[in-house]
Amino acid sequence: MVWDNNDRQRIYSGMQPSGVVHLGNYLGALTNWVHLQDDYNCIYCIVDLHALTVRSDGAQFRRKCRELFAMIMAVGVDPARSVLYVQSQVAEHSELAWIFNCYTYMGELGRMTQYKEKSQKHEDNINAGLFTYPVLQAADILLYKTNYVPIGEDQRQHLELSRDLAERFNKVYGEVFAVPDILVPKVGARIKSLQEPEKKMSKSDTSGDGAIIYLTDSPAAIRSKIKKAVTDSDARVAHSPDKPGVSNLLDIYAGVKRITIENALSEIGQCSYGALKEAVADAVAAELEPITQRYNDILADKAAMEDTMHSNAARAKTIAAATMRQVRKKLGLL
Ligand code: TYM
Repeated sequence: MVWDNNDRQRIYSGMQPSGVVHLGNYLGALTNWVHLQDDYNCIYCIVDLHALTVRSDGAQFRRKCRELFAMIMAVGVDPARSVLYVQSQVAEHSELAWIFNCYTYMGELGRMTQYKEKSQKHEDNINAGLFTYPVLQAADILLYKTNYVPIGEDQRQHLELSRDLAERFNKVYGEVFAVPDILVPKVGARIKSLQEPEKKMSKSDTSGDGAIIYLTDSPAAIRSKIKKAVTDSDARVAHSPDKPGVSNLLDIYAGVKRITIENALSEIGQCSYGALKEAVADAVAAELEPITQRYNDILADKAAMEDTMHSNAARAKTIAAATMRQVRKKLGLL
């Protein structure tokens, strides 16, 4: 396998097919996924099993998985260099998740912020999958003997559990799993809602579409959303906790331009809020336009995408199955 160069360490990350990819996903995770391909063996996953904690119609679910696959390719993940696959097509994830369930404590899962938030939001459907979600995530990561996991800040607690499980298992059975480290971007690790800048930009935001920039938004939609973004009454551009709206716009600008906050401030720090918003909107629209174009082209060739999906699942399965053979042997499973 050409991609799996032994001199390189392994990267693993995943994304839920639970809606259209937004700018938070892009700046917090995807841009990192793309450039890491130059230096690591990368494995990226559409984590459809994770998304089952929320009810969805089958046909719509399938469509969302395909769209996410196409979008990840459109931003620049190359399935010939990296592995890009769908979680449910590699059954080993579910198998290892069950085993890890038996090594994870209720207290550890009960402390998870995401579980607490999601069970408040979905009071009518607090299923066991929501509770054991981080265990499946640990299985995803550890199956591939991952060294680094590029994710946004909101996933830090889940990664800690993956590390703990790797160490716990290794302590009993010897070195089976690599203990993964987190990789969060310097800029863009926590992009906020445009309407409620104290909260993260999230697919499940209830304050409406104006709060979220989707990667498929037209330049006009991007401009209109950014123009209406909440700022504050003191018209001074600064990056500070008491100015969450303006700080978020600076994060977005620096993220899409791949510059530091200091450089962003020297470029647009003297602007009025109106001019600041215009500069941010221009930068975002310029970044996303070619991505949307590629996304539409990839989606148009369904057969080619389906082929890529299946051949990549087979590549992932080879690695996952080898790890599972080791795990089964250690546990004494016949
Ligand atoms: P998900 O699908 O919610 O998000 C995918 C990635 O996007 C990042 N992200 C953000 N980054 C910055 N600002 C935001 N507002 C923002 N919103 C989302 C997330 O941190 C994530 O990196 N549990 C994971 C999926 C998962 C996974 C894995 C990740 C399952 N198995 C194994 C890594 C490794 C999740 O729900 O991500």
